[in-house]
Amino acid sequence: MGLIPNDVINRVIEQSDIVEIIGNYTALKKAGRNFKALCPFHNEKTPSFVVNPDKQIFHCFGCGVGGNAVGFLMRQEHMEFPEAVKFLANKAGVVVPEDETVSLSPSRQLREEIFKINGLAAAFFHETLLTSHEADVKSARDYLKGRGVLLETVKNFQLGFALNEWDALLKFLKSKGISEELISKAGLIVAREGKSGFYDRFRNRTVFPIGDIQNRFVAFGARAIQDSDGAKYINSPETAVYTKGQHMFGLGLTRAAVGKMDQIIVVEGYMDMIMPFIHGVGNIAASLGTALTVEQIRLIRRYTSNVVMLFDTDVAGQSAIVRSLDLLIDEGMNVRVATLAKDEDPDSFIRRQGAEAFRVRVENASSLLDFKFNWLAAQYDPVTVEGKSKISQELLATIARFKSEVAKYELTKSLALKLNIPEGVLLKQAGQAKDPQAAFKMPVVKIKASAWASAGEELLLALFLKDPAWVKAAREKISPEDFPDGEVRQVVDVMWSLADGASEWSVNDILVLLKDESAQSLVTRLISVEEGKLGDAAQVFLDCIGKIQKEKQKKARGRLMQAIREAEALQDTEKLDQLKEQFNQLLKTSC
Ligand code: CTP
Ligand code: MN
Repeated sequence: MGLIPNDVINRVIEQSDIVEIIGNYTALKKAGRNFKALCPFHNEKTPSFVVNPDKQIFHCFGCGVGGNAVGFLMRQEHMEFPEAVKFLANKAGVVVPEDETVSLSPSRQLREEIFKINGLAAAFFHETLLTSHEADVKSARDYLKGRGVLLETVKNFQLGFALNEWDALLKFLKSKGISEELISKAGLIVAREGKSGFYDRFRNRTVFPIGDIQNRFVAFGARAIQDSDGAKYINSPETAVYTKGQHMFGLGLTRAAVGKMDQIIVVEGYMDMIMPFIHGVGNIAASLGTALTVEQIRLIRRYTSNVVMLFDTDVAGQSAIVRSLDLLIDEGMNVRVATLAKDEDPDSFIRRQGAEAFRVRVENASSLLDFKFNWLAAQYDPVTVEGKSKISQELLATIARFKSEVAKYELTKSLALKLNIPEGVLLKQAGQAKDPQAAFKMPVVKIKASAWASAGEELLLALFLKDPAWVKAAREKISPEDFPDGEVRQVVDVMWSLADGASEWSVNDILVLLKDESAQSLVTRLISVEEGKLGDAAQVFLDCIGKIQKEKQKKARGRLMQAIREAEALQDTEKLDQLKEQFNQLLKTSC
């Protein structure tokens, strides 16, 4: 796959509407010519995220990120650059030709290859499950049918079967011209110990492909048919497209419903997701393993802030919930916990009791406080002094994580009631905690500290962004090398190269050429600061250029002085005279 030509990228951006794109993720409110919203990239209560429809850019003054529609999708949907461009092109009806002369970066190419291999493998496993006459496959089909998995579901999730052979998949993929090296990088085969060659990682197992948000297959989980067949699940290792704990099984299929219902039910396992889905529960996804990770929570937050946790009623499941709770609060989510009958999981529960009973369980989910209180009360007796103090200590730490003072107060009051002690005591204890604020300080995604040396350079850049004519004027007096390394310099380089070709250009021409995210954010920030802050443009221009020139001369003088000192040390009089003459010239031209 080749790179997409720049003029096509520009056309795609021109024909896209950034307001419409971003509006899918956060509620935009009109504010003058711009739109304001709560930033989708960090937690905030008051909007500092601005979308500028004229320039087709966004910028967040809270966490400092900014860019165009492509940059937004890359951040929001974790898309690679070409994916984001193609996504927008598709929406806008622009055809993207590919320039085969330029190739993708090796890491991007590897990701594309693995997605392709995973797609082929999923199709191979799926075909096997649907059509093979092998006895093992037949019993897998019976097993799934017995668990209530419909044919339609098998197709929906592309469930499959890995034959009980050493190299069925390996042979198949090789016949498609794929190298062992790549198949191994996709995690589908394992090197034979002490010998050369590879064998299939997944054998004699039902295969659950794990899709990402765009329903591309990132990994596989494979379940043994018999309990005696070793580990219940064997999973893909981490690969260039898969990091554990960064995906939610099923969310690619359910994200629209999750957004619409503004709630997600989070379960643990594949079948816990699939079975309620079959019974019409559309807003569900599985964490696949233990507690929710920050990455998974942020993935969910794109679609909703309301989470109902529904894990197995065993100790492992319940403590996984407890471990998820604090993180969920930190990320500003509203969380409740639903419980099932003892020794039930969502899969068995909905099969036995049906969708309506399931819905009621979700509806009656406990508040976070109730759930954690009960969980603690099962470990420490809430009637004893030690119990009360242990429970209050743990719960106050959780409560301290809430951002809202009101929420903290109300929760502390409810806890006092539960422990049967006056609320004043708990409020005092909360106030005495070492650093009650520390627990709920939000992690702000700050962009890399900018390397610009002074506000002057930023002002000049703002001027350049406002009107390319200033770039033309500046080119006669200074050069990109006069700017210190860093974001400012990157932007100046791009502007100088644009000025070589055209007399006019748009912000997007600049953004498209800027590789670095923090350089893009610098541009969007400078554009988003209110007009008027620039002052008298001509005066700013003269001042800034003057300052840069002075700096340049100072550096040149420093270099000459050094050379003079060296010539003196070597007693090279001829060179010394020459240098002194140069120095005098320099003094004359500078003021
Ligand atoms: N899991 C895993 N490896 C294991 C056990 C579990 O990766 N050895 C993950 C799987 O994603 C699994 C989830 O943890 O779906 C929940 O585990 P468990 O409840 O044991 O499995 P179920 O999916 O409920 O399987 P089943 O109902 O078929 O027994
Ligand atoms: Mn189960």
